[in-house]
Amino acid sequence: MSADLSPIDKAKFAAARRATDYVEDGMRVGLGTGSTAAWLVKCLGEMVREDGLRLTGVPTSSRTAALAREVGIKVVSLDEARWLDLTIDGADEYDSNLNLIKGGGGALLQEKIVATASDQMVVIADISKQVDTLGAFPLPVEVIPFGWQTTKVLIEETLIGLDVLGRDTSLRLNGERPYVTDEGNYILDLHLNRIGNARQLSLVLNQIPGVVENGLFIDVCDAVVIGYGDGRVEVR
Ligand code: 5RP
Repeated sequence: MSADLSPIDKAKFAAARRATDYVEDGMRVGLGTGSTAAWLVKCLGEMVREDGLRLTGVPTSSRTAALAREVGIKVVSLDEARWLDLTIDGADEYDSNLNLIKGGGGALLQEKIVATASDQMVVIADISKQVDTLGAFPLPVEVIPFGWQTTKVLIEETLIGLDVLGRDTSLRLNGERPYVTDEGNYILDLHLNRIGNARQLSLVLNQIPGVVENGLFIDVCDAVVIGYGDGRVEVR
């Protein structure tokens, strides 16, 4: 599967394939969203089809649900599964405490719910996602469409008192229209550059009316499988 891949895709594929080691027969597994998670879903599909792996997948987006079905994975909703053995997902950034920024692909809400409902969460990422301090990647915040411009102002005002380096926020677009999440919400991307206290920021953001959820995953991730462009893998 990995022949002719670019170094970045080789890294993503290597991390995804190694993460399948965490999957045991009969498990209920949360399936992440994004290009790295797509490699995982393809690898798991191959194991289902060729090795007879019994797996129940709970996808974190409509995109992942479609791909999982396509490759032969049994898909159920989180309400049907209730609790999961494991979730494997990508990330936009991870730090040395395994705290994350997620939501670059717009699926942070389902991703956070599914990861939190899992005994274990494993992140798969290429080494470029590793940072000393979170925040260079714009922090996605899912907001209700009603009054989103007011919510945006409230977020910007709230940021004044916090340990961040930037305060610009932008509405994520899909062409000329707002990007709409699977839940029918919008996403504001917060250009903070550096997040000094991610735990505090996450708590404060989620108290603002109109905010549904933010892309900081604090104390959720148990391990990161890191892929390199030459196909090497390291686990943290
Ligand atoms: C989607 C996510 C993705 O996991 C994150 O954006 C990483 O994506 P990729 O593997 O394509 O780099 O959080 O909401």
